[in-house]
Parts: sequence; C-alpha cells; structure tokens
Amino acid sequence: MTYRIGVIGGGQLARMMVPPAVHLGIEISVLAETEGSSARLAATQVGDYHDAETVLGFAKDVHAVTFDHEHVPQDVLRALVDAGVEVHPSPEALFVAQDKIVMRERLTALGLPVPAWAAVRGRDDLAAFLAEHGGRAVVKTPRGGYDGKGVRVVRSADDADDWFASLDAAGASDALLVEELVEFRRELAQLVARRPSGEIAAWPLVETVQRDGVCAEVTAPAPDADDALADEARRIATVVAEEVGVTGVLAVELFETADGRLLVNELAMRPHNTGHWSIDGAVTGQFEQHLRAVLDLPLGDTTPHRAWSVMVNVLGGPAQGTMADRLPALMADQPGAKVHDYGKEPRPGRKVGHVTTTGPDLEDARGRARAAVRFFED
Ligand SMILES: Nc1ncnc2c1ncn2[C@@H]1O[C@H](COP(=O)(O)OP(=O)(O)OP(=O)(O)O)[C@@H](O)[C@H]1O
Ligand SMILES: [Mg+2]
Repeated sequence: MTYRIGVIGGGQLARMMVPPAVHLGIEISVLAETEGSSARLAATQVGDYHDAETVLGFAKDVHAVTFDHEHVPQDVLRALVDAGVEVHPSPEALFVAQDKIVMRERLTALGLPVPAWAAVRGRDDLAAFLAEHGGRAVVKTPRGGYDGKGVRVVRSADDADDWFASLDAAGASDALLVEELVEFRRELAQLVARRPSGEIAAWPLVETVQRDGVCAEVTAPAPDADDALADEARRIATVVAEEVGVTGVLAVELFETADGRLLVNELAMRPHNTGHWSIDGAVTGQFEQHLRAVLDLPLGDTTPHRAWSVMVNVLGGPAQGTMADRLPALMADQPGAKVHDYGKEPRPGRKVGHVTTTGPDLEDARGRARAAVRFFED
C-alpha cells in the first residue's frame, strides 16, 4: 500500500512537508487557496477550505488530513470527521489553537503558567485591566492573527478603540484578549510531536528572537538553559499535548522571565517557524515527524546532528530579482549554509525563506547564518 496524506493550506509549511513525503514514499496532496501557492510542487487542488463540499472531495482518498494553518472552520472539520476521515490534529484540539481567548482559558484550567490575562469587551474593561497592571498591557485579536498582526501594546484604554469597533461591526459577541506586558528575558519554544496512539517525542528547547512580532532567528538548543528549565518546558508541552489531545507537531511559544520562570505565550498545532532548524539540524526534522505522527507511524529520533543549529529567516527578500538570483554568490561564500526558498513573491516583511547553519561553535554558526541571509537583503 501507499500512504496518502492531504494538507489543507498551500503555504511554506505545506511546501516543506513535500521533501520528507517524497523520501518516505508518501503521496502528498495540497488544497491550496490560490494557483501558484508556495506548496505548488505537491499535487495541488485549488479550492476554498471554508466550503465543506470542497474539503470533503479533497479528502476522499487520503489516510489522514492535516493542516498548514489553523483556520479551517469547526463545521468543516466536523464534516470531515463525520465522513470517517482521520483529521490530525482533531477539531477538538484545533479549537484550542483557533482562538487566543479559548487558548488562555484552557491553559489556565490545566494549571499551566500564563501571563495575567482577561477577555475585554470594551474600553471600561480595558481601563480596569490597565489600572491593575501598571498602565501597560498587550491587546490581541483572538482570531486570525499571525506574525504579530493582531498584537498591540497599549498604554491607554483608547488604544484599542478601532479593534473594539470592528468587533461591534462584525456583530461578533467576541472579546479582545488583554495580557500583562511580560518583561521577558528572552523567548523560547518547545516543540514536541504526538501520535494518536500516544507516543511523544520532543526536540530540544530553543531560543527565538522576534523582530516586529515576526520570528527572525532561532538557536537550538537554547543557550544557557539548565536542566530544570528544559525539563519544565518539556513538561508544559507534554501536558498540553496529552490533555488537549494534540496529534502531529505542537509548538509551545514561551517567555522566560527575569527570575527564570516560564510563561506560555501561545500554541500552534502544526510545524512551526521555531522548528525549521530541525530539517537540517536534527536526525528527524519537524516536517517528517509531523507526517509520521499524523499517520500514526513510530516517531523518529530528534537528536541534533551538531552541538548548535542557527536558523535565520529571510524576511522580505531581495528588492530586485529573486532569492535564486543570489544563490550562486551565497553558495560560493557559505558552502555550509542550508538555504530554503519558499517560492514566494518577495514583499516587505514577508517570510520568503530561511537559512540554517550547524556546527560545534555557536558564534561561528550564527555568524555564517547571518552572513548567508545578508545575500538576500538589499
Ligand atoms: N504578553 C506579552 N508580553 C510581552 N510581549 C508579548 C506578549 N504577547 C506577545 N508578545 C510579543 O509579540 C509577539 C507576537 O505575539 P503572538 O505570538 O501572540 O502573536 P502572533 O501574531 O500570533 O504570532 P505568530 O507569528 O507566532 O503567529 C511575541 O512573540 C512577543 O514577542
Ligand atoms: Mg507567536
């Protein structure tokens, strides 16, 4: 027999599932939003993932359906399950990742450490939260945010008026999420994968740097992370994976506070930018592991190949030409750099690729990754 997997969403995450699918002999098909998507190298069907009929047709002959993003509506997910399709992660698990207020509620109920938070329905609620938390806070739209869009630092109750107005305009009963502004020492991420039958595998805890709300650089493993910190991160991710019933890759974004505590920022139930290093840096990369997990196959070894891996995102891309135009010069200068080009139109701030380097010395690996990415910047 041949394993067949269907991926909803045609972004770079779907694209990066293709090479390990090819290696493992898995047939992979993608339901993409548009022609010419980043995942166009797979067998691609263009269609609307909001439409149950389209999604059911796409999922007809696959062993499992998984996702490039978490935006597929619950009724469409339920229709798949009702039709007997293996959906991983499940609608129940994805529900927790689709809405940041639901996520905060669930994490709180699980007794996991999170920033102080509240659901606010108007400026009076927000003013009360600000008064309690030193006059500064972070407001987030519960749904549809990515790369820092939908995240705003506020210092006055007026600062979210436009977002409250658009909630009203949408006729939504929703609220906005408000959180304490965490004075973190750094941001970390813990990735694990879990099979439907229960097996879990974790990669090392990593350090992540965000610029303008977008992941810019990842170091694996996180420098200066002692065993207690690494154990706590793994414990948190394991509790979420098991209690929420996550299948596939789970990413837990974390803040490390000045006094060494971990707070959960957010969850993603799919391969994640902070795990891209593992493609080149670990025995089993996150995209291969995701395929194995959602097909309920035994998980792979997550051990890093080298002491250090550094991943730097290519944001925006060359103002003139494409990443491909710059490759010969980069390759000549940085023969150890592993370049990933997502095949996307360069646009300011857009993630169009990444570079990973590995090696025994952190500063050297970091220097080489940064030098490589500079070839794509004008
Ligand atoms: N409560 C907070 N305190 C301080 N900084 C925060 C807080 N919440 C978010 N941030 C900063 O904003 C970034 C983006 O926030 P968040 O991860 O919630 O948004 P997102 O747009 O969903 O991100 P992603 O790109 O991971 O999908 C965080 O990585 C962090 O740097
Ligand atoms: Mg985030």
